[in-house]
Amino acid sequence: MGARNSPAILLGLRIRQRHNPFSFQSNQSQSCIFLRMPFPSLYDIYQGLRGVNPTTITNDDVPGTDLVGKWIIITGSNNGVGFESAKSFAAWGANLILACREPPTWERHPTAAVQEIKEVAQAHGHQSTIEWWSIDMADLQSVEAFAQRWLQSDRALDILCNNAGVAAPPPQHYWTKDGFQFVHQVNFLSHVLLTLHLLPSIARSAQPRIVCTTSCIHHIASLDLEHFDCGPGMIGEPYKNNKLWFQMWVAEMQSRFLKHPEYLHITINGVHPGFVASGIWSALEHHGILDWAHGLLLRYWAIDSKQGSFGITNAATNPVFGPNPETQGVGSVGGRGGGKYINRIWEAVPKAHCDDPKARAGVWKKLDEELHLQDKGLLAVLGL
Ligand SMILES: NC(=O)c1ccc[n+]([C@@H]2O[C@H](COP(=O)([O-])OP(=O)(O)OC[C@H]3O[C@@H](n4cnc5c(N)ncnc54)[C@H](OP(=O)(O)O)[C@@H]3O)[C@@H](O)[C@H]2O)c1
Repeated sequence: MGARNSPAILLGLRIRQRHNPFSFQSNQSQSCIFLRMPFPSLYDIYQGLRGVNPTTITNDDVPGTDLVGKWIIITGSNNGVGFESAKSFAAWGANLILACREPPTWERHPTAAVQEIKEVAQAHGHQSTIEWWSIDMADLQSVEAFAQRWLQSDRALDILCNNAGVAAPPPQHYWTKDGFQFVHQVNFLSHVLLTLHLLPSIARSAQPRIVCTTSCIHHIASLDLEHFDCGPGMIGEPYKNNKLWFQMWVAEMQSRFLKHPEYLHITINGVHPGFVASGIWSALEHHGILDWAHGLLLRYWAIDSKQGSFGITNAATNPVFGPNPETQGVGSVGGRGGGKYINRIWEAVPKAHCDDPKARAGVWKKLDEELHLQDKGLLAVLGL
């Protein structure tokens, strides 16, 4: 498979063609956009392509752990890898809150998801609490309301899975009502806001974990912080760039946790679930040669959502991706701590920006500018 035909690159190409109103407005603007397109290095392309490794993972690779009495929130868990992860967590005994929106009619409704997941829990002998709570990641108020609802429950949150995502904005909705580019807000901003609101509850757990579904595609993204809001002139493409910023934020969060005793025991990692034949691709049009090639790849190469979910469940339960007792004061011997990029179930190299504290600080500052985190008191411990 040639690098230019990789699923990751196909995803980027087609999102740009179809949904970015600032691309392809005229032949002239097309060529300008083309000239501004970053050409990833061969090394980055190689690292990105490692994400399409379809090796079959089994329950022996990810045996899970006893989660009875634990509380888990997963965003985007009525479908795809989030739904399959929720089923595994339920089989291991966890209490679950599925953080979902009222979906489009063709998607599985969260009520049906709860029913299926409850059946899994019961089949494994668990009487856990499994509910869905409404959250719309395209609406910051809804995210804050969800967080307040959780905080009012006065529970410790053991695992937060920041998973919801879209490949492209829906037609007619390039911007959210909050004024942000749709993908930027749903895939990234809302998860940052949610996590920061929930931190006091997460910190109450003995060995909490935060698992963020990023992507191998972050390797071929651009660090264009001048166009953090994904507006006109952005170098690169929103889906990829936001996955890069998300993975950088993961690394920055862990480095800040390590500096603050209140949060030292929290472990956060970014996970690429694999090239998964999930509903996320339905946002992309199916016509022309690229779609034909993409359809073939999805059919014959992509893994299914259950396979994709192993990345999340492994990062949430495997002691290796848990706290490092030497630096975090909790955890078991062999725990590597967080801030990592995990390609499915294997630790992998993130794009170099993730290891660059200056670049990460840039992302951190931009987040404060857009979400007013400091004004909301959400950086009281972690700082600006
Ligand atoms: N599939 C891949 O090859 C691949 C590769 C790398 C990374 N990922 C990442 O994996 C994550 C899960 O994707 P998936 O492949 O499992 O796709 P999926 O089946 O489409 O699942 C995405 C989930 O996000 C939810 N969601 C979308 N917009 C939302 C919103 N505004 N508010 C709340 N929830 C919303 C969806 O809910 P609805 O049912 O309501 O739409 C769905 O539950 C995403 O972050 C994606 O970027 C996927």
